[in-house]
Amino acid sequence: MSVADRVMELARRRGFFWISAELYGGVSGFLDFGPLGKLLKRKIEEKWRQWFIVKNQEFVVEIETPVITPYKVFEASGHVAHFTDYMVECLKCGRKFRADHLIEEQAGLTGLEGLSEAELSSIIRERGLKCPECAGPLGEVKRFNLLFQTTIGPYSESIGFARPEAAQGMFTTFSRVYNAMRNRLPLGIAQIGKVMRNEISPRQGPIRLREFTIMELELFYDPKDPKCPVLDRSEVLRIVPEDRVSKKLMEPIEVTVEEALKTGVVLSEWTAYFMVLAQKFIQDLGIPFEKQMFIAKLPQERAHYASQVYDQVVELEKWGWVEVSGHAFRTDYDLRGHMASSGEDLRVYKQLSSEVEVEDYEVRPVLEALKEDFGGEAGLVANALKMMPGARVLEELESKGFFEMGKFRVYRRHVELVKVKRKVKGRRFIPFVAEPSFGAERLVYAAMEHAFKEKEGRVILSLPPDIAPIEVAVFPLVNRNGLPEKAREVYKALKDRGLLVEYDDSGSIGRRYARADEVGVPLAVTVDHQTLEDDTVTIRSRDTWRQVRCSIQQLPDVIEAYVRRKVAIAPLKELIE
Ligand code: GLY
Repeated sequence: MSVADRVMELARRRGFFWISAELYGGVSGFLDFGPLGKLLKRKIEEKWRQWFIVKNQEFVVEIETPVITPYKVFEASGHVAHFTDYMVECLKCGRKFRADHLIEEQAGLTGLEGLSEAELSSIIRERGLKCPECAGPLGEVKRFNLLFQTTIGPYSESIGFARPEAAQGMFTTFSRVYNAMRNRLPLGIAQIGKVMRNEISPRQGPIRLREFTIMELELFYDPKDPKCPVLDRSEVLRIVPEDRVSKKLMEPIEVTVEEALKTGVVLSEWTAYFMVLAQKFIQDLGIPFEKQMFIAKLPQERAHYASQVYDQVVELEKWGWVEVSGHAFRTDYDLRGHMASSGEDLRVYKQLSSEVEVEDYEVRPVLEALKEDFGGEAGLVANALKMMPGARVLEELESKGFFEMGKFRVYRRHVELVKVKRKVKGRRFIPFVAEPSFGAERLVYAAMEHAFKEKEGRVILSLPPDIAPIEVAVFPLVNRNGLPEKAREVYKALKDRGLLVEYDDSGSIGRRYARADEVGVPLAVTVDHQTLEDDTVTIRSRDTWRQVRCSIQQLPDVIEAYVRRKVAIAPLKELIE
């Protein structure tokens, strides 16, 4: 059995996670989390909160917005038009597959992103690819939108979507949160919550899910003041930049943040900052530095909103290098989309210390051309265009041939750009955004696989002590002579300290240690005959299997320091080191 299969077996048997709706045969892409899995996931979410929100509390706040979101939000964000995968259907059995994955698996071709439906269809035809289930012929490749659709209330015309990312909640509430935070930039808005993506044929267990928990942060900053004041430029990133990816050179290089920014390998200081944090966070989950790296996404692979993306990947036994976080430089893409669709001005205003003369391009909408292409929405587009930064409109028209504001794509004929000089006392601008985004369930699996060890034929789940679902176990050595009563007292003292404690008195002491090791309990406390004489117990380490005596009085402090802060104080120190 592969390590992955053994981790999954352990996850099912001991109540971490398993496929959802098992009673009815299970449904792929959905997981149930059991008692231990829920605790582990909660601790991973809390650790993310500590690294990304609490550590940065001067400029990051947490919010919560609904999962169900009106149609207009995802139309404005570009998801209705662009959040698609390619699908192909078997003409014999009717099963549907992700076309690029099918081609990759059957023909060994990679780098298919950016190909059209027609190009993928012709690869399938030319190579004679067949249905992997029944060997039947395959139809034409089509686009499939991954948004889960519903109606809001009993009105069929009131379409809503389950959000596929939390980010739009941060964009639609940006102005309100910005005002509540007393108009300060940089401002990070974070959210941890459920998202859904109607994946075509997820077959990778906990790795590709249709419903998962996202841990996401949008960092808004002034594009003219892009400095990240908390960035340590001497930190090292393990990275495969875009030029190496395009040559299929997938070995990572190690560069300092300083070099990465200087060479443009990373475009935004804030992205670099979150990449550094992401490395540390993943290490903190027990996944070593050399088992993780960042891989740049090529332009055709990137999400529609991103100007640069790095996927953080970790090495897993069965699935290879798997993405655990994405670091997208979203610029002003999302806010300008919402400005155009809602008609609201989402720019921020910055007062200057004195009046200055600035040179810019004024965007003058060409109404006739807008009416021809946008009909009744021409006014909305014109209104939004007047608020757009002229230099940026020009730059995108020149580099891409169009300027996108959510669902509206504007071309050269729709605008006049006039160079103007004016005296101003303040600037109005749309903030830029850098986004780190993590999936919690994958991290639960990745942390478990990296913690999975064997010693003398027994499984030990060597999770970092501060994410272990059960923090300490208490055992009476034997079930007589007053030991269970004393052990219950110790159990209560630890529980009263707020620790997650398991009391186990069934089976031999060896079996109890083995059961605790298998689910990652870092420390086990045993009450023995000596306890009744001197009020000391033994503490046994899951990782070293060594034991040390500790007084019951000291015990809560010693255990708490280790399982909450990873600090081994005496007498535990000698056991761990
Ligand atoms: N917001 C990141 C993502 O959708 O993947």
